[in-house]
Amino acid sequence: MSNTASQSAKSDFILQTVGLTKEFKGFAAVQDVNLNVQRGHIHALIGPNGAGKTTVFNLLTKFLQPTRGTITFNGIDISREEPAQIARRGVIRSFQISATFPHLTVLENVRVALQRKVGNSFHFWKSEKTLNSLNDRAVELLESVDLGEYVNTVTAEMPYGRKRALEIATTLALDPELMLLDEPTQGMGHEDVDRVAELIRKVSKSRTILMVEHNLSVVETLCDRITVLQRGQILAEGPYAVVSKDPRVLEAYVGVEA
Ligand SMILES: Nc1ncnc2c1ncn2[C@@H]1O[C@H](COP(=O)(O)OP(=O)(O)O)[C@@H](O)[C@H]1O
Ligand SMILES: [Mg+2]
Repeated sequence: MSNTASQSAKSDFILQTVGLTKEFKGFAAVQDVNLNVQRGHIHALIGPNGAGKTTVFNLLTKFLQPTRGTITFNGIDISREEPAQIARRGVIRSFQISATFPHLTVLENVRVALQRKVGNSFHFWKSEKTLNSLNDRAVELLESVDLGEYVNTVTAEMPYGRKRALEIATTLALDPELMLLDEPTQGMGHEDVDRVAELIRKVSKSRTILMVEHNLSVVETLCDRITVLQRGQILAEGPYAVVSKDPRVLEAYVGVEA
């Protein structure tokens, strides 16, 4: 890569960490991680169990404070910000913020998320016009994740494999610029895995996605760039074709499987 090319690529990192470290009573769950996520990419974070993937996510969304290191989002140092501030900036983690309410309908769940995005002003919600426009937007979001037929279904009664699509819809309601997905295909059968992978590809069109994913065939087909964590540190980083042939990566995975 030429010098100019590498510089313009650099300015297009939406998220960067430098020396990111989290210690629990002296044990480094995440150690000196320099993560660079390029805008518009689907970036995967993989690694054996206990590698520190979830801890990285918790640091990025500020559910944990780093012991050391910095996190930059769109060029702004967010290392010391609160979870709500990060969310307002457009860093949204699915399956955490978007936990759905089982007794509400699918539509109501998305509407709650939309209300959260707009704010909590009480008087604001007195307007019927506002509520109607929220309904319209909620239906639109549900159709975009292929849940149009479930709009009036009570969430608890929806098939398990479709709940992730609803979680993605409630996350989209918050209009994320960077969407963090922690194991989006976990516990799913083939058909649902394919459907969720397709959905992630679709919603990635206008945003950046950083995802933890165990299913390597999903990673291979979906992700532009892969970071492999092992024992809290980055073991390898690059496109799937390169990373998957890296002897250290193979060893890390075989070591776990054996
Ligand atoms: N709150 C905590 N207190 C102590 N140790 C923790 C805590 N959270 C995670 N760990 C440890 O940090 C390491 C990384 O965990 P985690 O981030 O959950 O890994 P992964 O998501 O890659 O499986 C593990 O050894 C785990 O036991
Ligand atoms: Mg985890």
